[in-house]
Amino acid sequence: MAPVWLPFLLLLSSLLKAQETPDSSPGVTVEADNSTGPYVSTSGPSGPSGFVPPSDPPTVQEDDWTPAESFLYSGDASALEVSRCSRAFSLSGQNAPSLPPSFSGPLRPALGALANTANFLNMIFQASDLRESTVQEDMEWYHAMVRALLEADMLIRRSLLTFDADPTSPEPQLVLCASRNPNAKVQTIILQDLSRAWEKLHPPAPAPDDSWFRNFKFPEPSQQSQPMSLSKRVLLNDLSTLDTPKWRQGDSYVTNHSGVRWADAPFLDCEDGLFVSDWMLTLSTAFYGLKPDLTPEFRGVIRVDVNIQDLDLDQCSEGDGWFSDSHQCNRTTMECIATPGQGFRLGQYCCRCRDGYYDPETIPQDSDGGSMNSSIEGVCYPDLPVCLPCWPGCSSCRDGTPCWVQQGGVAAGRRAHPAGAAS
Ligand SMILES: *[C@@H]1O[C@H](CO)[C@@H](O)[C@H](O)[C@H]1NC(C)=O
Ligand SMILES: *[C@@H]1O[C@H](CO)[C@@H](O)[C@H](O)[C@H]1NC(C)=O
Ligand SMILES: *[C@@H]1O[C@H](CO)[C@@H](O)[C@H](O)[C@H]1NC(C)=O
Ligand SMILES: *[C@@H]1O[C@H](CO)[C@@H](O)[C@H](O)[C@H]1NC(C)=O
Repeated sequence: MAPVWLPFLLLLSSLLKAQETPDSSPGVTVEADNSTGPYVSTSGPSGPSGFVPPSDPPTVQEDDWTPAESFLYSGDASALEVSRCSRAFSLSGQNAPSLPPSFSGPLRPALGALANTANFLNMIFQASDLRESTVQEDMEWYHAMVRALLEADMLIRRSLLTFDADPTSPEPQLVLCASRNPNAKVQTIILQDLSRAWEKLHPPAPAPDDSWFRNFKFPEPSQQSQPMSLSKRVLLNDLSTLDTPKWRQGDSYVTNHSGVRWADAPFLDCEDGLFVSDWMLTLSTAFYGLKPDLTPEFRGVIRVDVNIQDLDLDQCSEGDGWFSDSHQCNRTTMECIATPGQGFRLGQYCCRCRDGYYDPETIPQDSDGGSMNSSIEGVCYPDLPVCLPCWPGCSSCRDGTPCWVQQGGVAAGRRAHPAGAAS
């Protein structure tokens, strides 16, 4: 049994490697406040089970992240209940250029809501007189928008809006966050103003970083001229509703799904010192105003955190999605079969011997030569089958004895009975 756990541990350790903060600051010393315990956030504008920026400094002793890691395999929420956390836990980056294919359908409503909200804001800031007004004057609009975004899809657990009143500032001036409390009798939406808690929103790794914002505010130099996902629109006005239309024609930039960025890795939230037992994914997109030369100017980001716990991970799949092709089946002798319906969990697959190989530990139950159940499903992770080659010339077999080979070598062995059974 021991050897099959080795790949598990190797995979796990490689997942964790990138999480170690290289610039962990040893100079930070921490004064324990025993009265509240190190895990309870006491300061900050957080509401009950809202977005809880941890009080700084986060912990006295380093958290134990193992329960979060094993939850990725077990999916067993009770294992998380016994562990305390000081901040959210993000897996190390998957460096995968795409999300798993199984995500695209379920995430479509959230992606659409982000694109729609961004375009509403694009129009506000590029093509309306509201761009002249102040944040304070518009505050109620923003409140409504963040709350409404939460309702676009039940997978959305939290929505955020950042707004740069001053485009030269490295931090946004307005940060609003709406979150659900799904456990309340009547579903509750908690709205928080985190404008003065920007630093606390991004505690040290393994908590998720600020790339959901930074990648839009400070794009790579190659994209700096104009974000690729923006398309230009010419707006024509033929309005009888306005007494004094200011302009008849203007330019605007709009975005679509392709402008939405997803985080490098999923995360587990930490609320009131306890992990929330659902893996979450952060999606974000930016909205723009216009510079004096009428090119797009970054104004802010809207973000949603979606619950991906019920979305399947397929380690057998080919391609470049998260964890794809990360199974332990021997690719020469076995094929990998994913077990669907397990949600966001690793290790949900079985290995089956390929044609031309057999598993000596499978006891044939069916004497007709029909396919056996165990040979359909294979041996499931963390166990692996042993697959031995068939007798030379047999394209499939149940054991290592010679098979009847048909003349001409057509479909050799596929319907043949093992020679041993005849004698
Ligand atoms: C915290 O508790 C420890 C042991 O329980 C004690 O030695 C220490 O003085 C306490 N610190 C504070 C700030 O109360
Ligand atoms: C989204 O916008 C990009 C950039 O303008 C464009 O290339 C792409 O075709 C658009 N996608 C859809 C689905 O409209
Ligand atoms: C896969 O099985 C083949 C044949 O038994 C063996 O030669 C090879 O080393 C195995 N590969 C791995 C990665 O274990
Ligand atoms: C395999 O087993 C499952 C339940 O154990 C059963 O529902 C299924 O019909 C079996 N398939 C075959 C081909 O025997």
